[in-house]
Amino acid sequence: MAISPILLVTFFSLIYGNYVIPIEATHHVYTTLDESLSSEYSSNQPYRTAYHFQPLKNWINDPNGPMRYGGLYHLFYQYNPKGAVWGNIVWAHSVSKDLVNWTPLDHAIHPSQPSDINGCWSGSATLLPGGKPVILYTGIDPNNHQVQNLAIPKNISDPLLREWKKSPKNPLMQPTFSNKINSSSFRDPTTAWLGKDGFWRVLIGSKINTKGMAILYKSKNFVNWVEAKHPLHSAEGTGMWECPDFYPVLNQNKLTIGVDTSVNGDYVKHVLKVSLDDTKHDHYLIGTYDAVKDIFVPDNHGLEGNHQYFELRYDYGKYYASKTFFDDGKNRRVLLGWVNESSSVADDVKKGWSGIHTIPRAIWLHKSGKQLVQWPVKEIENLRMNPVNWPTKVIKGGELIPITGVNPVQADVEISFEVNDVGKAEILDHMIDPQILCSQKGAAVKGRVGPFGLLVVASKGLQEYTAVFFRIFRYQHKNLVLMCSDQSRSSLNKENDMTTYGTFVDVDPLHEKLSLRSLIDHSVVESFGGEGRACITARVYPTLAIHDKAMLYAFNNGTSAVKITRLNAWSMKKAKIN
Ligand SMILES: *[C@@H]1O[C@H](CO)[C@@H](O)[C@H](O)[C@H]1NC(C)=O
Ligand SMILES: *[C@@H]1O[C@H](CO)[C@@H](O)[C@H](O)[C@H]1NC(C)=O
Ligand SMILES: *[C@@H]1O[C@H](CO)[C@@H](O)[C@H](O)[C@H]1NC(C)=O
Ligand SMILES: *[C@@H]1O[C@H](CO)[C@@H](O)[C@H](O)[C@H]1NC(C)=O
Repeated sequence: MAISPILLVTFFSLIYGNYVIPIEATHHVYTTLDESLSSEYSSNQPYRTAYHFQPLKNWINDPNGPMRYGGLYHLFYQYNPKGAVWGNIVWAHSVSKDLVNWTPLDHAIHPSQPSDINGCWSGSATLLPGGKPVILYTGIDPNNHQVQNLAIPKNISDPLLREWKKSPKNPLMQPTFSNKINSSSFRDPTTAWLGKDGFWRVLIGSKINTKGMAILYKSKNFVNWVEAKHPLHSAEGTGMWECPDFYPVLNQNKLTIGVDTSVNGDYVKHVLKVSLDDTKHDHYLIGTYDAVKDIFVPDNHGLEGNHQYFELRYDYGKYYASKTFFDDGKNRRVLLGWVNESSSVADDVKKGWSGIHTIPRAIWLHKSGKQLVQWPVKEIENLRMNPVNWPTKVIKGGELIPITGVNPVQADVEISFEVNDVGKAEILDHMIDPQILCSQKGAAVKGRVGPFGLLVVASKGLQEYTAVFFRIFRYQHKNLVLMCSDQSRSSLNKENDMTTYGTFVDVDPLHEKLSLRSLIDHSVVESFGGEGRACITARVYPTLAIHDKAMLYAFNNGTSAVKITRLNAWSMKKAKIN
């Protein structure tokens, strides 16, 4: 990136110069280890995760400002210090050397200025030239308007970046009459990127009526931001765009390698992700960023006016408000996402917490160029122990084979199937939403080629189980692979949301093995089909299949036998999660 020395000087003197920073309200220090959490509390918590990120207690939602700085991974997240329901939002902060084990620090950003006095909502970190971090985040002002604020570290020699100071010029961006933006629909700044013209650019999620949009702002010094004439992208009928994310992915060779957010050129494609408030899903488009016109042009998209505009999703289960960052240590782009509870609010209050994050996933463009691929970061494999490996075995129709030797509530399971009878697959005579298809044809509905897959967090008598499986259909003379996560029998407690999830996976079962990996962690089952081409995350709260009472099985409820060509399963060690 070309950046003139003169520019650099003005730039840093503006931000790191001798501002007289107004004295902030006294920082309330929340102790990192809460004495009130007795061992009784934790042993009585069958749904707490052992290796998925969560704080000791209380409500969490969006991951914020992830970055690598000073050789450490920094994760901030939306947090309610006062309870297990949403409210009183601050930026909590944890650091990690490996994206697996996390150490909590004091809250980094909390209400202290008029521009954020009613809440410090989501935002992103940007590393300025020279590697200096800055954070843009949404503040809620005294009128409950959403505005954008800047915070910078107090001491950049501190690799923990413990303390942050806010720009006295906050708010830097606010809704105006001229831009017709409703002050309740103006939030979640992205990581900024630097154009060849020396201007930084950032996106803010918004909408006008039902037209969702990513508003573009530009700045030379990161402090004075001017709204561009048009949004980077918008689409009628899609509603509010929350937590936009915009980044390049390599489209030639070395696809799994990630690049810095400011990179552009013929060799990259751009991804625009938005969290649709209307659907509560993270949808994305792949396309080209025209840096001259400052617009994003999707490769293809569906009809405007409905949510089909965004065909592709990061995760077809429970997953929202995600954010990526470029990890310059391992040259990869890493994706973090929030998974909310499926239990009742009363249950959340009783257990004292709500919300977890997924295992960080590396994310890259599939060689088809048509979709992204996600895979849990390699570091998570350090938690694997006691491997169980099966020789190739055939699983007949109706058969259930226990997978013994692993801890069923804390496991990483990889299984691959080879299907020889594709011709016998059920015929699908008209296209149907795969989630509906999975609900109609759950694990308990016998099929022909499938359902086959895993029964996880299952009770011994199968009163409770979650089924993650494939089912193959013939549709218009082609093979169609359906992947489902069926929660309909996941718990005897019917207060829980036990919605079944599903998606089609772009895998050719004639020429490829059907692979499935599930990360099972007490109340979360994070599944990857087709080597990361389809992801489904589910929350489950079994009442019988807890602790050492749970079981894990491979199953086939079709009439055709299928071959298990690979089964590798591990118990997972407990990570240090805060
Ligand atoms: C800044 O952080 C470094 C490293 O932790 C520390 O040695 C130094 O004393 C800090 N400076 C101030 C002014 O706190
Ligand atoms: C702005 O949005 C909020 C929440 O969606 C709504 O209640 C309010 O009426 C809107 N205001 C205007 C002026 O459209
Ligand atoms: C959280 O979960 C509930 C119920 O399971 C769901 O209806 C809701 O939309 C979810 N919220 C978000 C933001 O994902
Ligand atoms: C397989 O199908 C039969 C018949 O529909 C059903 O009773 C059984 O519960 C199914 N097995 C599983 C694991 O769902």
